[in-house]
Amino acid sequence: MALSIFRTKPVAPHAHTGLRKCLTAFDLALLGIGCAIGTGIFVLTGLAAATQSGPAVVLSFVFAGIASAFAALAYAELAASIGGSGSAYGYSYVAFGEFIAWLMGWMLLLEYGVGAAAVANGWAGYFVHTLGSFGLQLPEHLTKAPMMGGTINLPAFAIIWVLTILLMVGVKESAKVNNIIVIIKLSTIAIFLALAVGHINSANWHPFTPFGWFQSLGNDKNIGVLAGASTVFFAYFGFDAVSTAAEECKNPQRDLPIGLIASLVFCTVIYIIVSGTLTGIVPYTELNTPSPVAYALSKLGYGWSSTLVATGVLAGLITVLLVLLYGLTRILFAMSRDGLISPIFSEVNPDRQTPSKIILMCGVVVSIVAGFIPLGELAETVNIGTLASFVMVCVGVMRLRKTHPDLERPFRNPWNPLIPVLGVVSCGSLMYFLPATTWHRFGLWLVAGVVFYFAYSMRHSKLAK
Ligand code: ALA
Repeated sequence: MALSIFRTKPVAPHAHTGLRKCLTAFDLALLGIGCAIGTGIFVLTGLAAATQSGPAVVLSFVFAGIASAFAALAYAELAASIGGSGSAYGYSYVAFGEFIAWLMGWMLLLEYGVGAAAVANGWAGYFVHTLGSFGLQLPEHLTKAPMMGGTINLPAFAIIWVLTILLMVGVKESAKVNNIIVIIKLSTIAIFLALAVGHINSANWHPFTPFGWFQSLGNDKNIGVLAGASTVFFAYFGFDAVSTAAEECKNPQRDLPIGLIASLVFCTVIYIIVSGTLTGIVPYTELNTPSPVAYALSKLGYGWSSTLVATGVLAGLITVLLVLLYGLTRILFAMSRDGLISPIFSEVNPDRQTPSKIILMCGVVVSIVAGFIPLGELAETVNIGTLASFVMVCVGVMRLRKTHPDLERPFRNPWNPLIPVLGVVSCGSLMYFLPATTWHRFGLWLVAGVVFYFAYSMRHSKLAK
């Protein structure tokens, strides 16, 4: 007999919910690109090249991209056939039932919420650096979290509030701002490539795999190209935010698969070119700096461009933050509507047609986390949560093919179940390559989620009533 916590929802393809349907496939692709290209390529490439992969970081990007591609195809099938703005959370509700859906939602909160706070910290670092190059300085205690000897990381706190207000103004306006900033970000990358490509020295690519393929150095550290892949995977997470916008798409069945796949392919190509160029112009051993792209340019003698690129990166990280916050609010919106968290948070403001209360709550929580907690080491925790959600999405595709064989699937993966199986294997492997401490943190987060579910959500769930 099925337990009640495994009660499933019927499939509800893209019903009208009060949110404004205004996003096109182009908006969606830029949403994915806006969220994906950021800290991963601009910061973690250098870290992974110097400490885990060497010049073969380009292969790390390829492996992480392949795993993400299988997941993107799985996302595309589910996004096209199942309604709801809850992303992987909504699909899990239909495929696996409430309890697993709750856990999926809980993992997505980690992915989007902690991810946004971490990227806000990265943004703050670049902001302070850029102010410095104009001779302006913030008092040091206002740029660091208490645990790092400061009072508050004010720029990280403030940027979350600026974006929270933007999201409250309205989703179409936010998408317009996102589109403009994505163009600035891509121009920054184009400038970097144009300046750097003539300086590639193939000697920098030898030895190509100085750390080998995979080796565990204990609880906290793994090295090798595959360990590097599980680090730079951070660069890919975010494209799945496209699927959280299902209820605000003009034509979700057609546009969601296009938006998901187009943004992933585009990002993979950019990452391969940028990481290959970066390791070609500077020895990989020098790249473990907070701004490796700007560092490499100034080493080539392009001092002015360093500031220009840092400014472009600032703009680029803003779009990442914008889409992470947007995705976070929409996942919480869906969970609230299902009764798993307070119903207050699924009210839509009738004037702006946005879920204002949930956006405000996200702003409060994420800005406090960003302002008061140093989040550097949590990047890997974000990755493990994202990879686990990708695995679940792939399993969900296989399960729904069995439980709902006749469901209308405007986008179908060919050769089923080959692609979801490859997705489970490749994303599962990237999880395996993460250090043990990351697994411990992830386990604690899941335990907290299980406690919350049995203490509150199970009894307040709409399905239960
Ligand atoms: N993929 C996003 C980044 O690299 C989160 O910043």
